[in-house]
Amino acid sequence: MKAEWVANTFTSSFWSWWIIFFTVAGIFFCFWLIWWTGKGGAPKGETAETMGHVWDENLEELNNPLPRWWLNMFYITLAFGIIYLILYPGLGSWAGVLGWTDTKQYEEEMKAAEAKYGPIFAQYAQKDLKELAKDPEALKIGRRLFLNYCAICHGSDARGAPGFPNLTDNDWLYGGKPETIEKSILDGRQGTMPPMGAAVGGEEGAEQVAHYVRSLSGLKHDAAKAEAGKAKFAVCAGCHGPDGKGNQTIGAPNLTDKTWLYGSSVATIKKTIMQGRHGKMPAHRQFLGEDKVHLLAAYVYSLSHQSGAN
Ligand code: HEC
Ligand code: HEC
Repeated sequence: MKAEWVANTFTSSFWSWWIIFFTVAGIFFCFWLIWWTGKGGAPKGETAETMGHVWDENLEELNNPLPRWWLNMFYITLAFGIIYLILYPGLGSWAGVLGWTDTKQYEEEMKAAEAKYGPIFAQYAQKDLKELAKDPEALKIGRRLFLNYCAICHGSDARGAPGFPNLTDNDWLYGGKPETIEKSILDGRQGTMPPMGAAVGGEEGAEQVAHYVRSLSGLKHDAAKAEAGKAKFAVCAGCHGPDGKGNQTIGAPNLTDKTWLYGSSVATIKKTIMQGRHGKMPAHRQFLGEDKVHLLAAYVYSLSHQSGAN
């Protein structure tokens, strides 16, 4: 590859030459220093003389030269440094004759990984998701991908956390068909519940509706407040349905079951009503590509359909 000067962030080449000057001068200085310390000492055949320094009564300094092998190690180190600086970037903005850059190396490694693993992902890409969800090899890859890219939000066991849905319970915001899960991962999801405080008559109304919401799933509630909240729930029905069973096309949760995305306490439900919620699942189509998402969808589907049952 042709040697070239890499474009640098300096406005002139002065600093580049500055660095080159001191690097080269440093190398020459080291050569001189080794040569200078290596010469001298007693001429061949003669015994070494004392330099006149004595420590601890009998420890004398003699004028023996440094051992040859020791000096050669220094010369080899210097030669290595020079060869390195010719081949690789290091001398100012000189790119080195190999034209190596960390970006290029990264890209080559990514290309090699794609060439090696691409076909493995591709061989699963055409397979039916329900079939894949029974294939232990595919699930193993899916699990690794999940731990890398999804566990940070959904947890390594996929059981989620407040605001991040549990993916193992077969209870879905957007739907649990394999294709729906795949769409959630590919294109992401944006759950939007607007603040509803004004619509239910402020804090007090929110409190009443919260008790009504708790009554829907049989949780402990104040009967009088729930009764008052029932009428106000009309403004919620458009999204959560008149019976509170939710709507998967917009990701409005079912409020009658035992699964809670944010929490079931009166305080949490009130907060949801007063402030609204905006859960965001990022899209992964560009980031991971469809083949990897296909394996992920199979893995997620398998979590709530153990042994491939429907
Ligand atoms: C930045 C956090 C984050 C990451 C990373 C993330 N998710 Fe999500 N995911 C969410 C949130 C939040 C939701 C719920 C969206 C909502 O509230 O409407 C969600 C929803 C989902 C759903 C829909 C669940 C349902 O009940 O319908 C699936 C499926 C899903 N994620 C799978 C994945 C997979 C697989 C990955 C890894 C590729 C992943 N997620 C990565 C935050 C994340
Ligand atoms: C415009 C549609 C819309 C309206 C109107 C609406 N919601 Fe929601 N609600 C949603 C969506 C979507 C979510 C999920 C938010 C998310 O994924 O972050 C949600 C979430 C919730 C949750 C959280 C459930 C959980 O599992 O933690 C509660 C409780 C709730 N809504 C109650 C209400 C009540 C009570 C009202 C009426 C005062 C109401 N919503 C009005 C769309 C709506």
